[in-house]
Amino acid sequence: MFKSIFAIAFVVAVSAGPMMGGTCDAQKQQLQAIFKDDSLTKQQMKDNLKTFFDGVGGDAATKFNEMQTKMESMKTEMESKMSEATSKLSDAAKQITTQMKAIHDNMSITPAQEREQIKALFDGAPEAVKTELKSAKDQFMGPGPMGGPHGHGGPHHHATTASA
Ligand SMILES: *[C@@H]1O[C@H](CO)[C@@H](O)[C@H](O)[C@H]1NC(C)=O
Repeated sequence: MFKSIFAIAFVVAVSAGPMMGGTCDAQKQQLQAIFKDDSLTKQQMKDNLKTFFDGVGGDAATKFNEMQTKMESMKTEMESKMSEATSKLSDAAKQITTQMKAIHDNMSITPAQEREQIKALFDGAPEAVKTELKSAKDQFMGPGPMGGPHGHGGPHHHATTASA
């Protein structure tokens, strides 16, 4: 979910590009720098993006704010679907999903830390729970590119799908 905020920021930046006039390149670089900085926590990235778009102003800022509002309502909808899906899981699996959500919601960590923590959590779960979570994920998201014949999925990549 969080990744999509960044994806949207890119789309907004690209579509608003012409409006940025002469400073376009500098601003693109500034935006890229925000995404590339691995040391930023999710909160810092979010704040930096907001500061960036506020600085650009005009249509870009308006679009970014609109998109963010839309993302928030999508997130809420997604969360209620998720809790419906996880309500059928075993208590052990529920516990893991609760912990995953807490990690996902933790804005004081970097995206890389989020992936690591979720992977560690998943890897540490009992096999039965892993199987349960995988099938719940497939039901919820569909097999997705990771599970497809052309994906990067494989026996060693399953944990990455848990961060979705
Ligand atoms: C967020 O993650 C950090 C680092 O793992 C941890 O110290 C902190 O307690 C977490 N905060 C919450 C609210 O879970």
